Amino acid sequence: MQSRLIFEQGRRGRRATRLPDGTMGDAAMSKYIPPKNLRTTPAALPEVSEIEMVRHFVNLARKNFSIDTHFYPLGSCTMKYNPKVNESIAGLPGFVAVHPWQPDETVQGLLELLWDMEQALVEITGMARFTFQPAAGAHGELTGLMLVRAYHDKKGNAKTSVVVPDSSHGTNPASTTISGYECVSVKSNARGEVDLDALAGALDDGVAAVMMTNPNTLGLFESRILEIRELAAKHDTLLYYDGANLNALLGVARPGDMGFDIVHLNLHKTFSTPHGGGGPGSGPVGVSERVAPFLPVPLVEKKGGRYVFDYGRPDTIGMVRSFFGNMGVVVRAYAYIKALGAEGLKRVGKAAVINANYLRARLEKVLTIPHPGPCMHEFVASAVKQKAKGVSAMDIAKALLDDVLPAHRARGAHDRADRDRDAGDARRVRRRDRKDRPPCRRERTGVVCRGAADDAGDAPRRGRRGPPPRLALAEKLAG
Ligand SMILES: Cc1ncc(COP(=O)(O)O)c(C=O)c1O
Repeated sequence: MQSRLIFEQGRRGRRATRLPDGTMGDAAMSKYIPPKNLRTTPAALPEVSEIEMVRHFVNLARKNFSIDTHFYPLGSCTMKYNPKVNESIAGLPGFVAVHPWQPDETVQGLLELLWDMEQALVEITGMARFTFQPAAGAHGELTGLMLVRAYHDKKGNAKTSVVVPDSSHGTNPASTTISGYECVSVKSNARGEVDLDALAGALDDGVAAVMMTNPNTLGLFESRILEIRELAAKHDTLLYYDGANLNALLGVARPGDMGFDIVHLNLHKTFSTPHGGGGPGSGPVGVSERVAPFLPVPLVEKKGGRYVFDYGRPDTIGMVRSFFGNMGVVVRAYAYIKALGAEGLKRVGKAAVINANYLRARLEKVLTIPHPGPCMHEFVASAVKQKAKGVSAMDIAKALLDDVLPAHRARGAHDRADRDRDAGDARRVRRRDRKDRPPCRRERTGVVCRGAADDAGDAPRRGRRGPPPRLALAEKLAG
């Protein structure tokens, strides 16, 4: 049902709550607020009772398509495990009721957490130091590229470009361009990995960095990474690691050991915090010893038994955001890492890879999987066979969301049964025939079903006959 605005509800004079009569008159108020900023007419606020207000917001919340109510097939940030207990921990008063300008002595616990978290990420990645300032992955990339520039400027290297393999995440070329470097794309080979000959051809003394995603966006591990490191080293070219998808490597392999100089992580993708749809993020950047002097300030240092913010770093690139980073996301990630421990994190890595390969094996008879497996935490499937019947990959994705997924209500996406349902749904979308499909509630009641919220704000369409557009699409998929 389409909802009325809260302004369209209630009645004049209705109130959800009654505040005590003001003890301060307008005259007294103008002592504190300049008269030009005081209202002369009352604000046009909704006038509703408490229950009207509660129902309005609860009903709006129920329209949300979220991981709490459905399988949500968008992005690894949302599909991973986001323990609820971490929300409570991040909401503790010691974390939320502090001010960034408080003196260091009054936030020792928070500084200790940042210090401990840095040590944990150093151990997990094999890098030397981390900054928590970047607000998300793409911001981490920009910060990393600023570090690349600072490193080369300090050495007097004249560098103008960054090499970005075509299998990298879309934000990599964007960050390269925004940071003022020319972006040179290098193609992948038939296996979906960086083509080493093409890379060698693209590298010269003007290349500041090679920016890689490993596992890459095809879900494949770049198995020749050590050779890539050798090629880059010949030109004093730094190796940048997009570690947004570190899930697949957790506890198994470390970018620092592979020779990377800079890595950004997406705490909101790998270590808790629901992020899909625009939730908060955190993209800490880790660096090797040779890049560490350029990190943003402040860094947390441990001096004696105390923790302090250190601003005294002469080669720093400065601050890349206000204060110290998105603390709530760092706290959730810290809780996640502490709860799992080293062994638990290793299990996360293995489970991410096994789940993706399980799904891959179940779908490979239906969809085309262009690159040979095994994959890491994700894989790419192509709808090339379906295209011949007039159905695009976008049609299948939309059909999954609009038509099939409402059946997933109240199920998580984390166990094998879920993987089976995901595979089953994708296969069913392909072969469904309308007559096999049981009528949904709205059809039984004479109102045609459009599945979940539709483009028109999910208003029911009375009296329309025949399959709704996306259901018709599912029939088309049956060929
Ligand atoms: C491999 C990779 N790099 C970078 C990003 C960008 O991260 P963010 O969305 O936090 O800016 C993503 C996000 O999906 C990603 O998957």
